[in-house]
Amino acid sequence: MLNRRDFLKVSGLGLVAIGALPAVSHGQTIKGGRIMYTAKDYSKLLGTEGFSETLLKNHFTLYQGYVTNTNKLIEIFQQMAKDDKLATPEFAELKRRFGWEFDGMRLHEYYFENLGGKAAIDKNGKLAKKMVEDFGSYENWEKLFKAVGAMRGIGWTALYQDPMNGKLFNFWINEHDVGHPAGCNPILILDVFEHAFMIDYGLKRADYIAAFFKNINWAEAEKRLK
Ligand SMILES: [Fe+2]
Repeated sequence: MLNRRDFLKVSGLGLVAIGALPAVSHGQTIKGGRIMYTAKDYSKLLGTEGFSETLLKNHFTLYQGYVTNTNKLIEIFQQMAKDDKLATPEFAELKRRFGWEFDGMRLHEYYFENLGGKAAIDKNGKLAKKMVEDFGSYENWEKLFKAVGAMRGIGWTALYQDPMNGKLFNFWINEHDVGHPAGCNPILILDVFEHAFMIDYGLKRADYIAAFFKNINWAEAEKRLK
């Protein structure tokens, strides 16, 4: 059974006062359907130049925690609906938390999937051409993206495409959930939480970003472009 103490322990929810949570059994199928997410295996990234095994393995474990907590929250919401507890502060606080856990899961998937590349961007490819169109040159885009990545704070740097006009924009995402442009498509995602680099680079975030750029899977990023 998942009790409140256990949930706080695994999810880090101790930062918010959420009161008592309903008890939910793991593996229990709640009537009405349960959406489950499975953590993906990114072990193929082990051996990536500039990313130690310790750093990557720790990062995979953190990612798996977001998947676990996303599933737990979905399960809890279904149980709370069943128990007629939707008009409670506990539900409201957990619902606010859901975006953080879900985005923590999904952003790591985009990040790991746009890593592991060996080749530089294809300057004749559609992504590089779009960067030239929107930023003047690939180099201008890279300079701006790196500047966003170097900003103080924890979060993500994201290249997004606005499907309304096709334009590319670099965004700063605070933590996991604040700052996403509604309806836009993520093209390239860079994790700049300290756990993403401190084991290997200490405070030298720029060196980590340089290593990231040596390993971008540009084919994957280009596939995300509409
Ligand atoms: Fe991360």
